[in-house]
Amino acid sequence: MQVTQYQMARHPVGPPTTDDFAAAPVDLGSRPASAVRVKLNALSLDPYIRMRMAGRYIADNLKPGDPITSEAICTVIESNTSALPPGSTVATMVPWQAVADVDPARCRPVNLGDMPVRYGLGVLGMPGLTAYAGVTRLLKPGPDDVIVVSAASGPVGATVGQLCKAAGARVIGIAGGAEKCAWVKDVARFDDCIDYRQEDLATGLARLCPEGPTGYFDNVGGQMLRTVLGKLRPGGRIVLCGIIADYNEPEVAAGPTSMEIMGARAHIMGLIVFDHEDLRPEWERVGAEMIRAGTLVTREEIVSGLAAAPAAFARLMRGENQGKVLVEV
Ligand SMILES: NC(=O)c1ccc[n+]([C@@H]2O[C@H](COP(=O)([O-])OP(=O)(O)OC[C@H]3O[C@@H](n4cnc5c(N)ncnc54)[C@H](OP(=O)(O)O)[C@@H]3O)[C@@H](O)[C@H]2O)c1
Repeated sequence: MQVTQYQMARHPVGPPTTDDFAAAPVDLGSRPASAVRVKLNALSLDPYIRMRMAGRYIADNLKPGDPITSEAICTVIESNTSALPPGSTVATMVPWQAVADVDPARCRPVNLGDMPVRYGLGVLGMPGLTAYAGVTRLLKPGPDDVIVVSAASGPVGATVGQLCKAAGARVIGIAGGAEKCAWVKDVARFDDCIDYRQEDLATGLARLCPEGPTGYFDNVGGQMLRTVLGKLRPGGRIVLCGIIADYNEPEVAAGPTSMEIMGARAHIMGLIVFDHEDLRPEWERVGAEMIRAGTLVTREEIVSGLAAAPAAFARLMRGENQGKVLVEV
């Protein structure tokens, strides 16, 4: 059986373009007895893939000619593993190709009840779990807090803000563009949202919270982190979740200085979602309850067919995505 595999053609320079990807025919042959064969239903596009394309991620870095891999929701079509019979729905890392052979030990059965199964890649999957772990285990917001969240319309940021609202905090988003800010305020019901493309961020923060935020959930890093740190209330908490400002840059930029951190008496916490896998069943239950109750909304950008994945990923890495980016296969 032949499939079309999408590979990294070369290391991107700056924001990725479709020329950084190549489509190649791959012969799958027959399935190794130790593997299960899966058919992809929905593929997740996530910013960390850009770090792997740069060779700077914590694992699974890519070199030219390697298949791009992502988490996907798949249907098992061939298997010798009794726990994963044909027809099972699983989440697993797969190369960007319609059918793949994968290690059954790396397949996670997905059963989200009445929720759409694709939510297992977004609001009820890795990005949602990142938000839930970061908020409940690190940020721990309460009614006295004013929390700022960057990349506020994305799957992590939007979930963070809504969880902080549910905990009684006042929540201010940061997002790029009037349309994203309107969604963050009107649909995700943040208290406010600063359009950093229209208004100087420091001015916006001073306007909306003159006493400074008590917490910042940082999805962006770079200058945005330094600006919010400069406005933080003394002793405020910062959860470092992402540095997307750096992903397209040739190297990771220097962060805030020790002096800036000391000046803010800041408590800075690093978040890696893999440390919080134990929370997944709880989040699937709590998140689904919030969705049913209307207190958690999500936004998705769904493109059709693997051939559309490179362009959709390039849009994500230019900040042009409208929520969680998924490829329906
Ligand atoms: N620590 C962990 O374990 C963990 C787990 C999952 C995700 N993350 C990180 O969390 C962050 C959010 O992830 P997500 O999946 O929810 O994605 P996302 O918010 O949809 O990420 C894309 C958004 O980032 C914003 N952005 C800001 N500066 C950018 C720049 N220089 N280039 C491109 N985009 C920029 C853009 O929104 P605006 O236009 O609104 O700024 C863009 O739409 C990412 O940094 C991701 O790597 C970390």
